[in-house]
Amino acid sequence: MAQIINGKEIAQTIKDEMRIEVEELKKAGKSCCLAVIQVGDDPASSVYVSNKKKACAYIGIDSLSYELPEETTEEELLALIDKLNLDEAVHGILCQLPLPRHINEKTILNRISPKKDVDGFHPQNVGALVVGDFGFVSCTPAGVIQLLKRSNVEMEGKNCVVIGRSNIVGKPMALLMLRENATVTICHSKTKNLKEICKEADILIVAIGKPKFINKDYVKEGAVVIDVGIHRDENNKLCGDVDYADVEPLCSAITPVPGGVGPMTICMLMKNCLEAMKYYS
Ligand code: GUN
Repeated sequence: MAQIINGKEIAQTIKDEMRIEVEELKKAGKSCCLAVIQVGDDPASSVYVSNKKKACAYIGIDSLSYELPEETTEEELLALIDKLNLDEAVHGILCQLPLPRHINEKTILNRISPKKDVDGFHPQNVGALVVGDFGFVSCTPAGVIQLLKRSNVEMEGKNCVVIGRSNIVGKPMALLMLRENATVTICHSKTKNLKEICKEADILIVAIGKPKFINKDYVKEGAVVIDVGIHRDENNKLCGDVDYADVEPLCSAITPVPGGVGPMTICMLMKNCLEAMKYYS
């Protein structure tokens, strides 16, 4: 029987730890504030933004909400970011993606001060991760590291295969596993012999974006499998990139979908916001 890595429970524990810390900080007269920007009314983004604000409220982090119309220009959005960058009461700035097509995402993300970049998307923070300096780390991969550590999965010296090379998940994930002294391989859509490479993994991290793609043919007996994907299957049920029923009997530990990696992402966003306040204000 595989150990089921319960992300919901681990995220709750971390949120409760932060709640206590925030309470102590408040006694010392310090508060923490996250500015959340949404442009347009994409329904999925609205759900994410609402969950982020709820998490802030639970922990005791103040949140400022900017719900801008779809027609907002790039210049208007940049002006808001400039204002928030200068506002000493604001510790973190989150601009929900995707942005409308007429706004250049890179231009926007690069304008957020690296000291308030709680998403960890600014090139300065990505660079800090590469060279091992302090900086904000993208929330989903940071959450995966917490899941592994808090489930007592040893990473040092292990063969870790990351499937996916996005800037938000795959690349930072590989760098974080390297920082934990794992031997890391990154696979992607052009990788040859994907099955054979995955079969060598002690820790397999799947961020491929295809529902139930990874079945038991890709998994070594006793491997730890982390599923970053989230989709709806043919029965409208949530599922991941991993065929859970097929893979679970084979592995030593696995994250479910839902309730695995998902709850950790917002949790790490809150952690980054708290760190922004502690380090930079
Ligand atoms: N849209 C989907 N995921 C994310 C995320 O982690 N951060 C931001 N800013 N937008 C997103």
